[in-house]
Amino acid sequence: MPDRADNPAIEALRAQFRKELPLAATEPALKGLKDAYLGRKSGAVTQALKGLASVAPEARRGAGQQLNALKSEIEHALDERLAALASARPPAGAVDVTLGCRPVGGGRLHPLTRVRQQVEDIFARMGYEIIEGPEVEDDYHNFEALNMPPDHPARDMQDTLYLGVPIAGGVWGAHRGRLPKAQVRAATLLRTHTSAMQIRYMKTFPPPIRLLVPGRVYRRDNLDLSHTPMFQQCEGLVVGTSVTLADLKGTFDAMLRELFGDVQVRLRPSFFPYTEPSAEVDISCQSCGGSGCGTCKHTGWLEILGSGMVHPAVFEAVGYDPEEVTGFAFGIGMERVAMLKYGVDDIRLFYENDLRFLEQFPL
Ligand code: DAH
Repeated sequence: MPDRADNPAIEALRAQFRKELPLAATEPALKGLKDAYLGRKSGAVTQALKGLASVAPEARRGAGQQLNALKSEIEHALDERLAALASARPPAGAVDVTLGCRPVGGGRLHPLTRVRQQVEDIFARMGYEIIEGPEVEDDYHNFEALNMPPDHPARDMQDTLYLGVPIAGGVWGAHRGRLPKAQVRAATLLRTHTSAMQIRYMKTFPPPIRLLVPGRVYRRDNLDLSHTPMFQQCEGLVVGTSVTLADLKGTFDAMLRELFGDVQVRLRPSFFPYTEPSAEVDISCQSCGGSGCGTCKHTGWLEILGSGMVHPAVFEAVGYDPEEVTGFAFGIGMERVAMLKYGVDDIRLFYENDLRFLEQFPL
């Protein structure tokens, strides 16, 4: 129809609508567009239709047709867009993957794992080999080869959890506490200290040795502020042709300063059946700087590990010649290190898995 193309105002309106349509991407925007063009009062097309009355009669029919065609084009286009939007909407109950999620708390290492890794790291850099041993041991490795024969009084220091004990005629049973001498030798038990691994290692490998054995140990202790029936140690063993007490002291100086910062280290005479001489090692109390406080029971010092020069009887038990080799050994309690390092006053907290406790440690 010639007059349709002839009306530039209507064509301009059509062009305007076609430009705006793709920009309306939401339902409200499309409704707004509909209002702007077809709204009953002020819609642009509605207005134009109303204005037909003043158009010259010969052009009115053509312009009317043209406007009605534009009106249905707009209605159609808007309906199509609205339908497209509706079908793109996820069905009720669907997961909206564009929504943010609840924050997920990050996991972190257990404080005892952190301490163990730090200790392992320090000794690894000093050339130590790191090996774990069995938690189920026999009497020989846990006691006898460590210079503690069945009637040795030192066995009283460690109340043992026995797993299997020969009772009579090939029958085995569980047993707790002290055993008659004959049965002791055949018993299986939960190791009371990582020192048992000294024997296994020396029986397998010749010197020289630089060994670190981290692991769990078990004793018949009731739970209290400073005791748990299972706890963790790191055993150390160094054997060579000229290892001296000075090496022991130098090693602890370096290791404890790295672990605890600027502390003083002292050796205190002690007794262990598998070392001679034996020493307990203290660090100066960090809480009071050595002047005495509750943490160090007013002594200024904190006991941190047991140690000594390997007893000749131990070398003999594993087939080493005590005239040829010397060595030192030590055992550190991991909980004690963690308690001092992080200011924890109750050992049970390490084993309760309370997130309020665990989340206080850095990631
Ligand atoms: N086995 C001792 C304990 O459990 C710690 C220990 C002391 C280990 C002296 C050693 C040592 O190797 O030489 O308390």
